[in-house]
Amino acid sequence: MLPLKDHSLKNLNTFGVDVKAKLFAEVFYEEELIQLLSDETLKREKKFVLGGGSNILFTKDFEGIIIKISIPGIVVIDENSDSVIIEAGAGVIWDDLVNFCVVKNFGGIENLTLIPGTVGAAPIQNIGAYGQELADTLVSLNGVLIETGEQKIFNKAECKFSYRSSVFKEELKNKLIITSVRFKLSKNPKTDISYKTLREYLSDKKISSPTIKDISNAVAEIRRKRLPDPTKIGNAGSFFKNPVLNEEMFIKLKSEYPEVISFPSEAGKIKISAGWLIEECGWKGKRFGEVGTSPDHALVVCNYGKASGAEILEFTMRLKEEVANKFGIKLEEEVNIL
Ligand code: EPU
Repeated sequence: MLPLKDHSLKNLNTFGVDVKAKLFAEVFYEEELIQLLSDETLKREKKFVLGGGSNILFTKDFEGIIIKISIPGIVVIDENSDSVIIEAGAGVIWDDLVNFCVVKNFGGIENLTLIPGTVGAAPIQNIGAYGQELADTLVSLNGVLIETGEQKIFNKAECKFSYRSSVFKEELKNKLIITSVRFKLSKNPKTDISYKTLREYLSDKKISSPTIKDISNAVAEIRRKRLPDPTKIGNAGSFFKNPVLNEEMFIKLKSEYPEVISFPSEAGKIKISAGWLIEECGWKGKRFGEVGTSPDHALVVCNYGKASGAEILEFTMRLKEEVANKFGIKLEEEVNIL
């Protein structure tokens, strides 16, 4: 397969930023990927792997090869009366996998309805929403090392999942291409309505024992109300992570801002709502030219027109500065910046 030259990435990133890749290849099979990685002329090129392009901000043309992973397929690998193991190709649209499972009443990923992106990208940042995260159901994944083309299997522990992160975002960043992911889902699902927004929504609708279909529908409706649709307004979901503070820092913040929105986090730490911090700075719905935060959710940065990646980046730097000046908290990007 010959890579395409000077390929536009405008329709391949949900910010809708108009940049080009020097070289571009789309792969549909793992073997095709291994072959591409063994090509001597391509070995020298800088590489970047693209899934759904829903968590990336391109700030300039890419002077290397972009490899788009479009490996398809959803297969039931094993099942018993309680659970089922499913394998999905890295190119499967995440929400298609969720729908497949909801229709079959396989429980465990229904709260992750409508998250943009692909199955292969999901483990990298351990996607999560409304009380569930990918790490709850992932069993293992298959991938290929970029440098050597060697196939690798990672069990869950080896993925080193944490809040919006994994080994693939740290030590193995840009070193492994995920080709398929296995999940263990329940055939007798217990629904998770621990997340306040979800619980309140279901109680308003007078749904007391929700099915996983009810959860999926509820999440879809909540998301549609609060998060701008990337097919209409360019965005990549939450631009920043929710900062995690130690107890001492939290107590200090709370004494100054008693209304701060917070959630318990790992090992005695406290997660603060980044959306709230931004809103408190008066930056919810703030707009400069064609870039701004959403009026419905301050954590979502939007491209309202033809903003360049550099303009979007500049806006987010100013936003970070505002939050740092007011609260002394340094926001960390959730989106990858290239
Ligand atoms: N909030 C504000 N102002 C805002 C936005 C939010 O005060 O402008 C408050 C809300 O009122 C609520 C709290 O912050 O009390 C939490 O808001 P929300 O439920 O929307 O969740 P979030 O922490 O802002 C996270 C994920 C989202 C995920 C939601 C729902 C991160 C960085 N983001 O957002 O994930 O959909 O929870 O579970 O963890 C994404 O990763 O791209 C993403 C959209």
